[in-house]
Amino acid sequence: MTTSQILSEKILAALTTLGVEVPDPSRIQVTTAADLRFGDFQSNAAMMLAKQAQKNPRALAEEIVAKIETDLCEISIAGPGFLNFTLTPKAWADLAAAQYASANLSVPQTASPRTIVIDFSAPNVAKPMHVGHIRGTIIGECLSRVGAKLGHKVIKDNHLGDWGTQFGMVTWAWKKGVDEVALETAPLQELLRLYRSSSEAAKTDDAIREECRSELVKLQQGDPENIAIWNRCLELSRKGLDVIYDRLDVSFDHWMGESAYNDQLAPLVEKLQSTGLARESNGAVCIFSGETEPPKKDPFKVNRDGEWQDFPMIVRKGDGGFNYATTDIATVEFRVNEWQADEIWYVVDFRQSGHFEQLFDASRRIGHDQVNLVHVSYGTILGKDNKPLKTRSGDLPQLGDVLDDAVKAARAVVDQKSRLDTEQEKEELAELIGIGSVKFTELAHHRMSDYVFDLEKMVALEGDTAPYLLYSYVRTRSIFRKLEGDFIADPEAFAVTEPAEIHLVRMLTRYGDQVKLVMEDYRPNLLATYLLELARAFHSFFEACPVLKSEGATRESRLLLCDLTSRVLKDGLGLLAIQAPEKM
Ligand code: ARG
Repeated sequence: MTTSQILSEKILAALTTLGVEVPDPSRIQVTTAADLRFGDFQSNAAMMLAKQAQKNPRALAEEIVAKIETDLCEISIAGPGFLNFTLTPKAWADLAAAQYASANLSVPQTASPRTIVIDFSAPNVAKPMHVGHIRGTIIGECLSRVGAKLGHKVIKDNHLGDWGTQFGMVTWAWKKGVDEVALETAPLQELLRLYRSSSEAAKTDDAIREECRSELVKLQQGDPENIAIWNRCLELSRKGLDVIYDRLDVSFDHWMGESAYNDQLAPLVEKLQSTGLARESNGAVCIFSGETEPPKKDPFKVNRDGEWQDFPMIVRKGDGGFNYATTDIATVEFRVNEWQADEIWYVVDFRQSGHFEQLFDASRRIGHDQVNLVHVSYGTILGKDNKPLKTRSGDLPQLGDVLDDAVKAARAVVDQKSRLDTEQEKEELAELIGIGSVKFTELAHHRMSDYVFDLEKMVALEGDTAPYLLYSYVRTRSIFRKLEGDFIADPEAFAVTEPAEIHLVRMLTRYGDQVKLVMEDYRPNLLATYLLELARAFHSFFEACPVLKSEGATRESRLLLCDLTSRVLKDGLGLLAIQAPEKM
């Protein structure tokens, strides 16, 4: 149990003794205090329940305080009836000891584990991943780690775009002349070349566009030659993607791409029609509004020229083909039926929010109303000109190139600052810092805000950066290298008195609550910024309180603090999928 949980239970027990009925105990919350001058934790329980208890909030607060028995903290009342808790040094030391002894670092395990499917990354294959994929890929990986840490069953699924118009394009150009040598040496570049050459050609020539389309139709009808080309494209793309995912330390439990649902689409649309959920309209089959929401809130309506019009979801096109949307309805069915998903999180660009609103509404009407469907959306990565990041030629930068650039920038910092000797060590450190910086920058921003991709800033040792965090970790480790003899840890030895020690423990023991918070609004930035704060608390402690030069019990307790900081930093970075070096 975290401290806030312990304190909320104490409030609840006090309320029970006072005979105050609490309709929803989960609403009795104790949070970390925003302003430390008022204490370490706070609660507005008295204010919330005053009306119902027919008491003035301050009076109720006083009664609660009188009934709480604890030597954990001092309790005071502020303002209209806030309860403020200030923990005693002994309580802090005990909390640190408990966290130290816990393999899980006191991260609370959920009482009701859910099966959470996380749909993320999902690039369209035959095209290399571009810079935009950083966001979904990294946020998705982090959320999956946090979910698992809290005790949920997480299923990571890469819903590749492996069955779309791009294959008509690639196949057309492939047949015109694929460069087999390039296909062996630089497969993704060759696929991209093919894709670009036909999309260029199709732009100005309607006949070519038609030919590309018919290549796609042939593929969809199972033409053996086109299927063979498609299979090779997939295999080559998978290899290219694996290189990137390995580098990013991202993995998936399943790769259920769009093509995996092909056979289910025709029966699905028939079912939708027979149950009356979809109907024909101008030759296509569409899902229309359920007419339960005002048009403003209805994803199946648009306002054109001041008038609300139908904006249906097309599940079968006039030519008999199926859509992205059709496949997505099939994925919901599959994930609920086969994986018993309680939750499905789609970590996808905000531009697709209209699609997901329709999908979620349609899914509920189909009867999937038990599963919690969430669009975890995110914004755009910008260049220094504050416009979406582009290469000089105006394309989206490829993800692999972006990572290379980050590693190069990190290498410059390593060359300047690092004490490592060998070329290989420096190279490894630069890779770790470069990739870690890209990830940390992503995760430190609120997912909905756009941010400027500024390599120099991201890899700098000063600032709210990954290198600053990694350096803090390294500092905690280097203390133990300087120790002579083994460090035998006895958690009982925690004893904190100095304000900087108390503040460090305060930050350390917040870890569990902070990890939990990430799940509340799918916000890894809460964990990222917490780790920065923890690192700052560590540096202040390290400056104010000598460790190796202190003696006896003080030295032992301070070493424990360093070790605990080290473990929390490493664990927290691990949840962000960032590796920490032992030296730098
Ligand atoms: N492949 C899609 C794209 O690149 C993203 C897929 C997201 N997942 C989903 N189930 N729709 O836009």
